[in-house]
Amino acid sequence: MSSPVVLSAEEVYRAVSPVVAVEAVRDAFVAHHRGEWTMPPKVYVTNYPAGDFRAMPALGGGHALLKWVTSFPGNPARGLPTVSGLVLVSNAETGALEALLEAGAVTALRTGAAAVLAAETLGRPDAATASVIGAGVNGRAAARTFVARGRRVAIWDLDASRAAAAAAELGCDVASSRDEALAADLVVTVTPGHEVLFGEGSLRRGQHVSLMGADGPGKAEIAATELARTHVFCDDWEQASHGGELAHAVEARLLAEADVGRIGAVLAGDAPGRTSADEITTFDSTGLAIQDLAIAVAALARIPSGAVRIEL
Ligand SMILES: NC(=O)c1ccc[n+]([C@@H]2O[C@H](COP(=O)([O-])OP(=O)(O)OC[C@H]3O[C@@H](n4cnc5c(N)ncnc54)[C@H](O)[C@@H]3O)[C@@H](O)[C@H]2O)c1
Repeated sequence: MSSPVVLSAEEVYRAVSPVVAVEAVRDAFVAHHRGEWTMPPKVYVTNYPAGDFRAMPALGGGHALLKWVTSFPGNPARGLPTVSGLVLVSNAETGALEALLEAGAVTALRTGAAAVLAAETLGRPDAATASVIGAGVNGRAAARTFVARGRRVAIWDLDASRAAAAAAELGCDVASSRDEALAADLVVTVTPGHEVLFGEGSLRRGQHVSLMGADGPGKAEIAATELARTHVFCDDWEQASHGGELAHAVEARLLAEADVGRIGAVLAGDAPGRTSADEITTFDSTGLAIQDLAIAVAALARIPSGAVRIEL
């Protein structure tokens, strides 16, 4: 018999601040790069056009994790979140179930953390402006993380009222136009990936873009030819070359595995990141289960008082 703790979204956010999330995700990328934390590629169960389900397992830090999570882009129009589900955490030695966490909060914390970590790591050290495009759950998480890291950020969304609400909630700016947001030194894109934001020739020298939205088949936030013009880094080659921005560029033979850096190797100091001030860098994120594990482990180390346990 086990008695796992159950953490609601609110309890996950109370346990793990954006600053803690950045450090946890940094450590997870490095541990994954070193082979200490492992994960098979996520499995997509598709029900398009409605959406898809993802099963994401990982092992590390004395725990095993499974995230069962969705991406249903039409949900906000129904008053439902795009991303929802559950994270299960087990003890890696005994197999005992230790925790159930609301998956949307875990996802938002680690997605915001990865977007900002990549921007800080790959962007120019003298980057002055930052923007987030897409003011949904995960775009707001990226903006919140920028703010928590002490950076001023402007947010933009197709739906101006969403951008205004996010700015009021997070204490950030609203970009005056889409073009202004796209021109920031550090850009994070977190849209559903139905529209290419960066067409061919649109990025300028020295910019960095963390491409977070196109995390599955058929989505894109950047033209494949434009991606190929940049120094690309990914979170995981297997995932990104099959379901992210890179999938389009690899299919078109514009990029191959050897052209693409890995964020974990850069963070571990085993591979170069940005090599010149003029270089354009991009981070193709598909979202890794080891990032979720990082947030879950951080939450378990800070279980808020009053959290409920269930008997199984
Ligand atoms: N890489 C990752 O780790 C990761 C993690 C979580 C979510 N995602 C992906 O990120 C995307 C957004 O997720 P979410 O949960 O924030 O969704 P959401 O529905 O809460 O928010 C999406 C926002 O994008 C806005 N938008 C739509 N098209 C736009 C455009 N062309 N320009 C600017 N804004 C636009 C919408 O108005 C909405 O506010 C999804 O595709 C999701 O699958 C990726």
